[in-house]
Amino acid sequence: MFVVGGSSSRSLSTEVARILGAPHAQAATSRFPDGECYTRVDAPLGGEDAVIIQNTYPDGNLVEMLLIQDAVKRAGPRSVTLVVPYFGYARQDRVFKPGEPESAGAMAAHLGMACDRIVTVDIHKEEVLGRFGCPGRDLKAAAAIADHFRGGGVDLVLAPDIGAAGRARDVGDRLGVPHDHLEKTRLSGSEVRIAPAKMDCAGKRILIVDDMISTGGTIIAARGALAAAGAESVSAACTHGVFAPGALERLQGSLDGIACCDTIEGAASTISAAPLIAAALREEW
Ligand code: R5P
Repeated sequence: MFVVGGSSSRSLSTEVARILGAPHAQAATSRFPDGECYTRVDAPLGGEDAVIIQNTYPDGNLVEMLLIQDAVKRAGPRSVTLVVPYFGYARQDRVFKPGEPESAGAMAAHLGMACDRIVTVDIHKEEVLGRFGCPGRDLKAAAAIADHFRGGGVDLVLAPDIGAAGRARDVGDRLGVPHDHLEKTRLSGSEVRIAPAKMDCAGKRILIVDDMISTGGTIIAARGALAAAGAESVSAACTHGVFAPGALERLQGSLDGIACCDTIEGAASTISAAPLIAAALREEW
């Protein structure tokens, strides 16, 4: 196996290769003066099981992924596995209004054209896996998140909405504490309303778990509802710290703790998905 890291996943790909004991190369990616992407994969990939690790968000990373795929294919590997730690566009998983694209399916179909299998981590909707046109597998970061908070005095794990209820259950069960979910209504791209918490939050140290944090609107609203219900502390964890400009600073200022996985590498990505990814790559599937 030979691991190729794209520019979005330098540390993650290095760590995956280290765990696997596999050779590793970083794609040499830069931008032309007009902004177009240049990349080069200088690695002996002939006959290898090549693994490319690169996000498809933001859009520049998607272009880089398509170019790395082509470069790797040309080197004559035995197989190509794409690891997409954060699969962008997964939230646009259906046509909401006539005339719109089905963005998640369109992205999936393009990625699947030049590889043998695709690995994602906590993809927003698992249905997207069926659109790759090649075997796809989604890995769950709940165990890594639970390990990070084990011994940290969490009394209750909450999802900010019913869509994340399964994640909260998974993390809560692993920590051996109760779990529940709040009721969220999305008002706009950056605004949400969270209904007053129905569960007993008084004096509790609460961990909110979601698949991603983007503007931080969801977590800030949830924190407000939980503080109003008497929570002693409120921390948050997610798999993908997308963090729109200013969001992480706002969250750090209002939460008691925040942690996310290194599927998107950044200041708060203190939980590594590398062991999870390496284990999946070792398996036959
Ligand atoms: C929504 O379905 C997702 O699971 C997240 O709750 C949402 O994307 C978070 O976005 P934001 O941080 O902008 O509220």
